[in-house]
Amino acid sequence: MLIEVNNLSKLYRTKLSLVKSESGNKRAVNNVSFTIDNNEIIGLVGESGCGKSTLSRLIMRIEKPTVGNVSYRGRDIWSFKGDDLNKFRKSCQIIFQDTLTSLNPNMKIVDTLKEPLNNHFKMSEEEKIKKIQDIIFFANLNKGILANYPANLSGGERQRVNICRALLLEPEFLICDEIISSLDVYTQAVVLNMIKRLISHNNMGVLFVSHDISAVKYLCSKIMVMYKGEIVEVIDNKNKEYKISHPYTKKLVSSVPINNPNKRLAMG
Ligand SMILES: Nc1ncnc2c1ncn2[C@@H]1O[C@H](COP(=O)(O)OP(=O)(O)OP(=O)(O)O)[C@@H](O)[C@H]1O
Ligand SMILES: [Mg+2]
Repeated sequence: MLIEVNNLSKLYRTKLSLVKSESGNKRAVNNVSFTIDNNEIIGLVGESGCGKSTLSRLIMRIEKPTVGNVSYRGRDIWSFKGDDLNKFRKSCQIIFQDTLTSLNPNMKIVDTLKEPLNNHFKMSEEEKIKKIQDIIFFANLNKGILANYPANLSGGERQRVNICRALLLEPEFLICDEIISSLDVYTQAVVLNMIKRLISHNNMGVLFVSHDISAVKYLCSKIMVMYKGEIVEVIDNKNKEYKISHPYTKKLVSSVPINNPNKRLAMG
């Protein structure tokens, strides 16, 4: 199994008021378990603050869980050291929502894209440029952007650069955390189609986090619904069997009827 999440919980110590002694625990992720295999794209939807990004950070080893564990290829991710940790950092990538702060404003795009290659591969300068040009072409980006700085790119172009940077490392597992929410509908479709092509091309496992149930429905075989830190429902999108039981899921899909394939899903 590529990624296995076992009984994962994360508690944050929080202040309940401005009085120092008054503090409590916030359970951001509560007893979550699931698996993701190669070539599998799983959606994670839920309202703002339900714990999607916290769960993503736990899976990427950015934060430690309070309870439970995450395994990558059968091994606990917190047991990795040295070469194993490097391999995990190369093989498991995350792309965040904010396109501007995830790119260094003082670096030209070409240098931003060279950085992961410098860190993880032994390649000549020509090989690096060839690899970068190939991925830029795959992402439908113009070669001209390579000499630019992030501020000179549109949000959609920056997000595709982010995706390219993650994919240059040839990851096995990718988390996309709200990567389309700041984009206009046309650019959303471009980015979604790119992700879809890449997944079938690279045999990756993907966790696609979004508020947008129609985008998730377009991409994912399974959709996990998160509510107040828990996975309350898993929807089978492959066989189009939409047996929805949790009240929150009903509320979520009522704005975009999940059985209506015409609603904003005509992009594929
Ligand atoms: N470092 C932290 N300390 C205390 N509380 C935190 C911390 N990080 C997150 N939280 C809380 O945990 C909960 C889950 O936050 P999280 O960012 O995971 O939600 P989300 O589902 O990603 O929301 P959104 O859709 O708005 O991105 C929130 O109530 C948040 O305030
Ligand atoms: Mg979030």
